Amino acid sequence: DWTMKAFREEAIERIRAQVGTGRVICGLSGGVDSAVAAVLIHEAIGDQLTCVFVDHGLLRASEAEQVVTLFRDHYNIPLVHVQAQDLFIGALEGVSDPEVKRKTIGKLFIDVFDEEAKKIGGADFLAQGTLYPDVIESVSFTGGPSVTIKSHHNVGGLPERMKMKLVEPLRELFKDEVRVLGRELGLPDAFVGRHPFPGPGLAIRVPGEITREKLDILRKADAIYLEEIRNAGLYDEIWQAFAVLLPVKTVGVMGDARTYDHVCALRAVTSIDGMTADFYPFDMAFLGRVATRIINEVKGINRVTYDITSKPPGTIEWE
Ligand code: XMP
Repeated sequence: DWTMKAFREEAIERIRAQVGTGRVICGLSGGVDSAVAAVLIHEAIGDQLTCVFVDHGLLRASEAEQVVTLFRDHYNIPLVHVQAQDLFIGALEGVSDPEVKRKTIGKLFIDVFDEEAKKIGGADFLAQGTLYPDVIESVSFTGGPSVTIKSHHNVGGLPERMKMKLVEPLRELFKDEVRVLGRELGLPDAFVGRHPFPGPGLAIRVPGEITREKLDILRKADAIYLEEIRNAGLYDEIWQAFAVLLPVKTVGVMGDARTYDHVCALRAVTSIDGMTADFYPFDMAFLGRVATRIINEVKGINRVTYDITSKPPGTIEWE
């Protein structure tokens, strides 16, 4: 792609000009955006870049291995894999307000990056895969009413105490453009085509209080749902699909026994940039198959629903 080739060259020049001989630390989320940002920055400044992948205990099944393998084995980019499950899950104990969750997670991310930056002898810059839609959805208009739809954990500048400046080479791009850039940079198709995954992870897919038990239940349901979507050949038609574990228990019956377990909501949408979205029109047989598998295979769920809300008025995530 001619335009992306030009963008790549320009972006590399801009990164070099901004960073000089400084050290950059880049947080990988497991998603496409941060991966593309990291590979681009690595191309610009080589081993002045250190990537950090924080396992906050809010990842999907086998997510950590996939990211670590891609970066270490495919690209040979230095990567620190931080095991911070206890830190994050501990801090989220008793927290059920979605914005407090986001702020708690955002603050801990910064603490962890600060600490990792110290370990490598200090970093001057923090790199992020912020996209254009992230920028505009988090904007507060000065002089007008303050409009914050939600506080994306990777947008909005850094706290005073953090000395690192931000490097955000994808700030002008939409998701489809990032995917083109990713291919241009040689990222494997399977990775470039991945559905978006939010930085706060499964924390925003368990409304209400988060527990390890709920996260484990959600991971299993989510894995079954995505496996069925892949098997049906639908993965690439869908912008994003995931399961949500509701903080509601309902009565069911299994065999001869009464059950009293969680409700799982399934979400799937089509979209161009995540700013608007339509629910995906699965056929009923598909949904029935997924629901049966989840209820039979996942202890803790006895009811499955499908979300038919488009954006607007709904958001894609449930928070
Ligand atoms: P919503 O729920 O606002 O989501 O309709 C729009 C898109 O943004 C993703 N999302 C995030 N991505 N950090 C991210 O990197 C975040 O804090 C975050 N919150 C939402 C969401 O998954 C969807 O693709």
